[in-house]
Amino acid sequence: MGEGNRILLIVSGGIAAYKCLEVIRRLRERDIAVRCILTRAGADFVTPLSLAALSEDKVYDDLFSLTDENEMGHIRLSREADLVVVAPATANILAKMATGIADDLATTALLATDKPVMVAPAMNVRMWEHPATQTNMETLEGRGVLRVGPGEGAMACNEWGMGRMAEPEEIIAAVEKFFRDASRLSGRRALVTSGPTHEAIDPVRYIANQSSGKQGHAIAAALARLGARATLVTGPTHEPDPAGVEVVHVVSARDMLAACETAAGGDGPLDVAVCAAAVSDWRAAETVTDKIKKDGSAPALALVENPDILATLGNGGAQRPRLVIGFAAETSSVVENARTKRTAKNCDWIVANDVSPETGTFGGDANTVHLVSADGVEDWPTLSKRAVADRLAGRIAEALEAAP
Ligand code: CTP
Repeated sequence: MGEGNRILLIVSGGIAAYKCLEVIRRLRERDIAVRCILTRAGADFVTPLSLAALSEDKVYDDLFSLTDENEMGHIRLSREADLVVVAPATANILAKMATGIADDLATTALLATDKPVMVAPAMNVRMWEHPATQTNMETLEGRGVLRVGPGEGAMACNEWGMGRMAEPEEIIAAVEKFFRDASRLSGRRALVTSGPTHEAIDPVRYIANQSSGKQGHAIAAALARLGARATLVTGPTHEPDPAGVEVVHVVSARDMLAACETAAGGDGPLDVAVCAAAVSDWRAAETVTDKIKKDGSAPALALVENPDILATLGNGGAQRPRLVIGFAAETSSVVENARTKRTAKNCDWIVANDVSPETGTFGGDANTVHLVSADGVEDWPTLSKRAVADRLAGRIAEALEAAP
């Protein structure tokens, strides 16, 4: 960390903008290069001159941007960084980021970047708590945007509450963690399956299940954040493709297996495979090309078993991923069934969860899981699916670091 790392710091308009001067000073102390974009409203709170003096670089703002297009376009500006930090991030810039508005240099760079983005929200408590801001923040976090703060405290507007920008030391700690984490799985190859599969009965009907794909997508994103080269093979879901992940869209279990075999067959064994997909256990014995018509009698549907992707990877011989992780979606005897599945499918860990309808796990944002391995069972507290993904990715990194 430090030397060689580059940050693009976007300073939007808020009273907390003065704190970004301290952030720049501390980043430079750590040998992190900082290049600043100052929005028009940000320039009401800090001067380009102070940013330039502390960052030891030119400051980009809308006044410069027209002439700078030749020297450095917004695309280059946004990509010549390892991390984009928006501090302070006002309600306005969060809204623009969530909806893809690009009406100045800062928001154009944010829309054009392919780099991780961290925001430090700063605004009045009512603006922070407004459903519009909360929804925008959720959208952004769902796309992988990292957030630091806000904190609670007295505000410049004489109110008290959530909305104060994180202190410089918290922002620095978050940046340091980002750079530490970003290389934990670098050079590692990961495969994740996610979502349901659809098994055609006829051209308009299919067999499916309630899986939303949220957990699997979050795991692929978490592995990518740790620097892994992650491939996500997903059945049909409403989840957006996670940033920094190669995504292969499939429909049926057989397509999913083929895509996994292609991903696993590359340059030597995968480091880790996480099978989070709710693969349909069966498919129609025969699919018909014409829509089945009703004729007064209920037709019988003959089924055949689908290939088991997790078991195929677990028993993959020399090409077996070094760490094979399955999920067990159960409605009773959760841990007991998970233990049986772990040995039956020859995998290293099983992440077991209760998906009974009253738990709200399918389609919901929270998950209560048990990690079952050869060493025993760990009960995790109820966490958001994103937090489960981060914790699992951290455990994967530890396991691979322990046995390089
Ligand atoms: N799995 C898979 N391919 C299948 C079926 C399941 O890769 N054809 C994987 C899932 O991704 C999950 C694990 O196997 O990681 C457990 O799936 P689950 O459906 O809970 O278990 P099953 O083996 O189908 O057993 P059962 O339905 O009897 O509980």
